[in-house]
Amino acid sequence: MNDQDFSDLGPALSGMGRFPEDSSFAEADLDSNPSSQFAKWLREAIERELLFPNSMTLATCTPDGRPSARIVLLKGIDRRGFIFYTNYESRKGGELAANPHAALVFLWAEMQRQVRVTGTVSPVSSGESDAYFKSRPRGSRLGAWASRQSEVIPRRADLEASVEELDRVYEDRDIPRPPFWGGYVLDPVEIEFWQGRADRLHDRFRYRPATQGAWAHGAWTIERLSP
Ligand SMILES: Cc1cc2nc3c(=O)[nH]c(=O)nc-3n(C[C@H](O)[C@H](O)[C@H](O)COP(=O)(O)O)c2cc1C
Repeated sequence: MNDQDFSDLGPALSGMGRFPEDSSFAEADLDSNPSSQFAKWLREAIERELLFPNSMTLATCTPDGRPSARIVLLKGIDRRGFIFYTNYESRKGGELAANPHAALVFLWAEMQRQVRVTGTVSPVSSGESDAYFKSRPRGSRLGAWASRQSEVIPRRADLEASVEELDRVYEDRDIPRPPFWGGYVLDPVEIEFWQGRADRLHDRFRYRPATQGAWAHGAWTIERLSP
């Protein structure tokens, strides 16, 4: 590969990133609680019928400071924080077990909006994971058993064979939740709402807790940040 391979991308990339509309976001528009503000923006993204409005980048980090990030789906939001489901033995699961500090980023590009969250992650109760697992379609329940997420596999065919085998095993039995699969909740300690504006003069508001346990009902300090 040489520089020539990218030559068509240079001009295309440098012309991108202009925001088509100027939609202001002022102090007066902000809810005093970030959970209500987040719910408002998420509802608006759902109403716009965006593809995966609940997708978020989850960044985790090893104890020696090596980050990794991937998309997961937000499956709940409540007084504890942001809930997602995954394999506890995956790369992210291992990183979270060793270092519970994590970050989330939502991008609603069509709305020129970003939300950034940092906080601490803990597993949800096994009863809660069981209930969510039960609500999943049969295919995805079998898939959760078949996948040793993040491990190297020699062939796709092995994965498919394992699903077929599990399909036979659970033919007329309820599929239990794998012990290595379940939910996490991220308890936010900082949350930032970003609205794209013209000429890079974007609106940014950061919420930080003014009291303990602020996410559900506490007081937050709101600051406007330079774009
Ligand atoms: C739109 C989208 C949604 C995804 N949702 C999830 C999810 O909810 N849970 C999950 O474990 N992986 C999800 N993934 C796959 C992850 O991005 C990732 O490949 C996987 O979790 C393994 O990550 P890890 O090896 O860093 O642990 C999703 C991927 C995409 C593109």
